[in-house]
Amino acid sequence: MRLGVNIDHIATLRNARGSIYPSPLDAAKIVESSGAHQITIHLREDRRHIMDNDVIEIIKNAKIDVNLEIGVTDEMIDIALEHKPKFVCLVPENRKERTTESGLSLDSINLQNTINRFHKQNIEVSLFIDPSIDNIKKSKKLNANFIELHTGNYSNSSSDKIVKELDLIKECAKFSKEIGIICNAGHGLNFDNVENIAKIYEINELNIGHSIICEAVFIGLESSIKKMIKIINRCRNY
Ligand code: PXP
Repeated sequence: MRLGVNIDHIATLRNARGSIYPSPLDAAKIVESSGAHQITIHLREDRRHIMDNDVIEIIKNAKIDVNLEIGVTDEMIDIALEHKPKFVCLVPENRKERTTESGLSLDSINLQNTINRFHKQNIEVSLFIDPSIDNIKKSKKLNANFIELHTGNYSNSSSDKIVKELDLIKECAKFSKEIGIICNAGHGLNFDNVENIAKIYEINELNIGHSIICEAVFIGLESSIKKMIKIINRCRNY
């Protein structure tokens, strides 16, 4: 199973102070050296985390695949066609949402044309969809290379509903395989809930961001504090 690491929240931290660090490009290099298969970044219309220059630098320097998540707008399509990531994942975008809340609506007339334009440039297209058989059939008809099943409902489910959400994801992953469209998944996956999803053999790839970045803070906090204390002590000749 491939792992794409979504590094948007490195940019969130940087932008919170308007500083130049932490650098998403440095994070991308760590994603590469850690054995993950892909760097995932989401360029939002409001540029709340990843900025245009991050997209350019990461695509230019990455040694592993870059998956660029974008809304289906002329601006985003033009940026993706210009910089040519390996994969584009089309997502719905609502300005007020904290994160991508639902899957893409597949009935827009523009979608087929958009997918064709990416294919002409050898960019493979994934559609971020709510798990449903109908959405998978439509994605196949649109000739998308991948679907990414939105695991948000599964991740946020209370324990009485989780089995139903998980069964739906399993059913969708199996159906994707049967009709020949590659199935990825992501959103809200964390160290506790990922196992059920990772056990579904029909899923090709997971894209995980928030939980990995959050865990990194705690795994790294102690060494970061010790590093600062060491510098201070050195200055005081301790
Ligand atoms: N996949 C898609 C299409 C997303 O939009 C996101 C969030 O940007 C993710 C995966 C990663 O979600 P999370 O940050 O909750 O792991």
